[in-house]
Amino acid sequence: MSKMRAVLIKGGQGPVENLYIGETDKPIPTKGQVLVKIVAFGLNRTDLAQRQGKFPVPPGVSSILGLEFSGRVTELGEGVTRWAVGDEVFGLASGGAYAEFINCDEGLLLKKPNHLSWVDAASIPENYITAYQTLVKYGEVKKGDHVLVHAGASGVGIAAIQTARESGSCVLAEYVSHGAHRATITATASTTEKLDWLRSIPNGATHTVNYRTEDFAAEVGKTTNGRGIDIVIDVVGQSHWAKNIQSLAIDGRMIMLAALSGGNLSPQSTLARYFTKRLRIQGSTLRSRSLQYQIYGDLGFRNFIDKVTGANGGGPIRTYIHKVYPWTEIQSAHREMADNKNIGKIVVEIQSVRT
Ligand SMILES: NC(=O)c1ccc[n+]([C@@H]2O[C@H](COP(=O)([O-])OP(=O)(O)OC[C@H]3O[C@@H](n4cnc5c(N)ncnc54)[C@H](OP(=O)(O)O)[C@@H]3O)[C@@H](O)[C@H]2O)c1
Repeated sequence: MSKMRAVLIKGGQGPVENLYIGETDKPIPTKGQVLVKIVAFGLNRTDLAQRQGKFPVPPGVSSILGLEFSGRVTELGEGVTRWAVGDEVFGLASGGAYAEFINCDEGLLLKKPNHLSWVDAASIPENYITAYQTLVKYGEVKKGDHVLVHAGASGVGIAAIQTARESGSCVLAEYVSHGAHRATITATASTTEKLDWLRSIPNGATHTVNYRTEDFAAEVGKTTNGRGIDIVIDVVGQSHWAKNIQSLAIDGRMIMLAALSGGNLSPQSTLARYFTKRLRIQGSTLRSRSLQYQIYGDLGFRNFIDKVTGANGGGPIRTYIHKVYPWTEIQSAHREMADNKNIGKIVVEIQSVRT
């Protein structure tokens, strides 16, 4: 069996010090699969959870970390028709992107446009597909909706804020006739630097709240003139739960993607509010979805990603890179994210010795 290098974890899981670059089996593409030589991969919070043994790897998925990548096609499995050796691509993976090579279904790959850098391409799939399915599929976002995005400066948060604006939830100068309200998009974060930045970017937040020092439910009550939030996108869970329920408007929707602060429900949140407001609460994880679902053709993913990739040429939705690391500094990259320092994406470049 041919070998490749990959970021591995001593003992299979553990602290950041357990990450190292070692040798493992190089994947072989089977029917309908494409082997890609990776140039860059995006870091995701889920990688940190998986390293710590807190995120079980879905059955049949590589135990190597990594959910998104950019690279060149190097080998084709039987029956592959969409790609040729040498094509520049990027894509979503259920795992395995912290490596020199990755095997993926031909349907999961996207062509990397020439204007898009390897780093930008690798930073897009996980966050923007998540943002799209969260707001459009589950949230059913529409023009005039008030949206609240927690962890606004995270990879997912920045994608969601821009997606909300682009979906017409926040047409700043426009008043929705039946409600006579101005739509808002409120982002929460922990520092003034993050909050200022979120309001400064094109298609950024209209309002921001420091959840550590301010009561975000009271703030959105004021900014929506008491109407409340139509869509909450939450990755925080426990500490925000009661205030999220308080923040939601009649017929509000809340989409739960993670529980960074813990998973126990607060007893302060009385059930009556759920009935009287007719709330809908939806959970989701992209990684546990079937291959068919993840193939971007479903649910308009492909069209949406085209908007994002066009954006780095100047369009309405774009990716923001916090920092790029060589993969020899993978431990520092994980530390930077664990310390909540990133505003946007951390991307890692692979210095490969193989062709
Ligand atoms: N379900 C899905 O399909 C799906 C898909 C993608 C990502 N996710 C989840 O979405 C979350 C964000 O992912 P990411 O890769 O974009 O993360 P990221 O860039 O690492 O950002 C996470 C941010 O969350 C905030 N945070 C951390 N702990 C917190 C706490 N206890 N209370 C409040 N805020 C906290 C921090 O920002 P502040 O400094 O502002 O607090 C941190 O920078 C992760 O939990 C990830 O697992 C879920």
